Amino acid sequence: MAKAGPDARQLDERIAVLEAAPLRWWAGEAEVVRTYFSNPRTREDDLHWLKLQAARELGTVERLLQALPGDLAGIEAAVSRGSFEASARSVYEEARHYRLLADIMERIAGERPDPRELMALSGCQRERRGHPDLPAMTAEVEATRRLQETYGELAEVALGFSEGAGAAIFYVGNRILELPYTSYSGGAVERAIAEAMGIIFHDEMRHGPVHIPRIAEAIRDDDDLETARRIITEKAMVHLRLRNETFGYPLTEVRMAEIDAGVRVEPLPVDYRNITPVSPYSA
Ligand SMILES: [Fe+2]
Ligand SMILES: [Fe+2]
Repeated sequence: MAKAGPDARQLDERIAVLEAAPLRWWAGEAEVVRTYFSNPRTREDDLHWLKLQAARELGTVERLLQALPGDLAGIEAAVSRGSFEASARSVYEEARHYRLLADIMERIAGERPDPRELMALSGCQRERRGHPDLPAMTAEVEATRRLQETYGELAEVALGFSEGAGAAIFYVGNRILELPYTSYSGGAVERAIAEAMGIIFHDEMRHGPVHIPRIAEAIRDDDDLETARRIITEKAMVHLRLRNETFGYPLTEVRMAEIDAGVRVEPLPVDYRNITPVSPYSA
C-alpha cells in the first residue's frame, strides 16, 4: 500500500517548524539596517551598501535569465505554464530591484554604476563567486554550496524559503522615516530608499517566504524536517553576517553572537503564512 502523504495537521506543524527556524536572524538583519540608519552616515556610506545590494540584484537577474530558456523548453511538460510565468516575473522583479537601487546610486553619485564592477561583487550570479574584499559574502557562497552538495534536492527545496532572507531589510528599510535617522539630504535620500524598499519587500515576499507550504509538502518525514530546519538555520546565520558586511558592520561580533543565541531579539511582525502569489506592484 502506498504511504499516505502528510495530513493537514502534520503539514501545519511542519510549516510552523520551518517558519520559526530563521526568524531571529531575519530580525537580526532588520537590526543591521535599523542600526545603520540610526548612526551618522555619509554619501559614501550609502553608496557602499547600495552598490553591494544593487550588485546582488543584477547578479540575480543574470542567474534567473539563464534558467529561462530551459524552463521554456519544458513548458507544458516538466514546467507548468504558471511556474514559467512566475519565473519570468521574477526576472522582471529583480530587474526592477536593480533599477530602483541604481536610480538612487546615480542620484547620490551623479554618475551611473559600473555593471562590470557590480557583477564581480554580486555573489548571486549563476556561477556564484565570492570576492576577496567581501569575506562574509564569500563565506555565504561557500556555505550555500556546501549545503547543496551535502543535501542535494532537499537543500534546493529548503533554500527556496531563504531567498531575500524573509525580506527583513526591505521591511525595515521601508520604515526608516518612522525610525531615528540622520540625513545629509534633508530626508530626500531616505524617502527614496523607503519607497524602493517597500516595492522590493512585496516582491521578495513572493520569492522566498511564499514557498513555505511547498517546502513543507516536499518533506517526507521527521528526519527531513530536522535536516531542512538545520539548512535554513545555517543559511540564515551566514546571511546575517553578509548583511552586516554590506552595511559596513553596524553590529558587533558580540551582538551577532547574542542574536545566534536568541538574546534580545524579537521576530518581525511579518505574516509569512498568508502571502498572495503576485506582488501588488506586478499584478
Ligand atoms: Fe531582489
Ligand atoms: Fe528575489
